[in-house]
Amino acid sequence: MMAGSSALHPDHRIGVVQIGLGPIGQGIVRRVLEMPGVRLVGAVDPAPDKAGQDVGSLVGRARVGVEVQPRLDPDAVAGASVALHSTGSHLEAVMDQLLALVEAGLSVISTCEELAWPWHHHPGPAQRLDRAARRAGVTVLGTGVNPGFVMDLLPLVMTGVCTRVEHVHARRVVDASRRRGPLQRKIGSGLAPDEFDRLVAEGRLGHVGLPESAALVAAGMGWRVDRIDNVVRPLIASRPIETPHLSVRAGQVQGLLQTVTAWQGDRERVRLDLVMALDPPASEDAPTAGGARGVDHLRITGEPPLEVVVPGGIFGDTATVAAVTNAIPRVMEAPPGLLSVKDLAAPGWWSGAAW
Ligand SMILES: NC(=O)c1ccc[n+]([C@@H]2O[C@H](COP(=O)([O-])OP(=O)(O)OC[C@H]3O[C@@H](n4cnc5c(N)ncnc54)[C@H](OP(=O)(O)O)[C@@H]3O)[C@@H](O)[C@H]2O)c1
Repeated sequence: MMAGSSALHPDHRIGVVQIGLGPIGQGIVRRVLEMPGVRLVGAVDPAPDKAGQDVGSLVGRARVGVEVQPRLDPDAVAGASVALHSTGSHLEAVMDQLLALVEAGLSVISTCEELAWPWHHHPGPAQRLDRAARRAGVTVLGTGVNPGFVMDLLPLVMTGVCTRVEHVHARRVVDASRRRGPLQRKIGSGLAPDEFDRLVAEGRLGHVGLPESAALVAAGMGWRVDRIDNVVRPLIASRPIETPHLSVRAGQVQGLLQTVTAWQGDRERVRLDLVMALDPPASEDAPTAGGARGVDHLRITGEPPLEVVVPGGIFGDTATVAAVTNAIPRVMEAPPGLLSVKDLAAPGWWSGAAW
């Protein structure tokens, strides 16, 4: 059953180690603890308020007898086949962590946005990681909701029934009011507009991974793109907005509007429009839905033309936890190397039953 070199834990469950215990890592641990075919062997996070705690208690569940370690100790994760990694968005920043996991003989499923399709924007690190993974006989995958599903894999899968594709458009509106604190800050909420523009100019603001999604779609279509443009603009609040994590005054930034386009010569092939904001303005395809204004809207121009609308949009935090944990059996069966979501067996829910 296993094409990769990953071995099962001696108790015949898939041994996993969780790296990073922010909101996403904690969500992953909660799901893993519900999966009978998966055994949590270790957990790593350097934060002083986490290291040393029982990871079950840390995530609000019963004690599981696994203490959070401040750093990866390869001996402490004996019996693990897969590392679930959720520590950072930028590939260069997490490269050493990924290499250490690979060198410890673990396959890696990571939420690092730039890892979703690093071949276009980060070809050097991608090649290094691919070589290391092949040498170690393990698989490395970047996944999540976005990048990893809504604006790349989902439109790619839709085109599987097309005889011709001219253009791919994905529009996602995320109402960040209900999302975790780090995400509300990452979209610039509460900043003054000139501060927002300065951070964008310095490359420190904007949804990381959107250009990677466009590159992944183009690669999946077999389109050699000449240029990928990435434009990030602020959305300014016209009234005060309060969330459990921060306060925004009228005139401050309530979120961002980001457009990424991939071009073949002067021909636009992929367009990704992302609105991530606290209380985003209503639009034709995103009327108020249960108090939250969100939507995922995908349009394929081709034969046949296709359109899919997910009213309310796919809720990102749980979708990311699902994307990571559902990928476990697929990564166990995958060949070694750095792979992307388009290279794995078709995604789907996994019950977590004995594998
Ligand atoms: N692809 C997607 O669709 C998707 C979706 C959601 C999230 N993400 C990304 O996934 C990552 C995790 O999300 P989050 O909200 O949980 O972020 P977060 O709150 O920043 O949590 C990251 C955690 O990892 C810890 N950490 C840092 N370096 C570490 C290391 N070397 N080893 C182990 N742990 C380490 C951090 O500790 P300190 O606080 O002490 O630094 C923190 O507790 C983020 O980069 C986020 O952007 C991607």
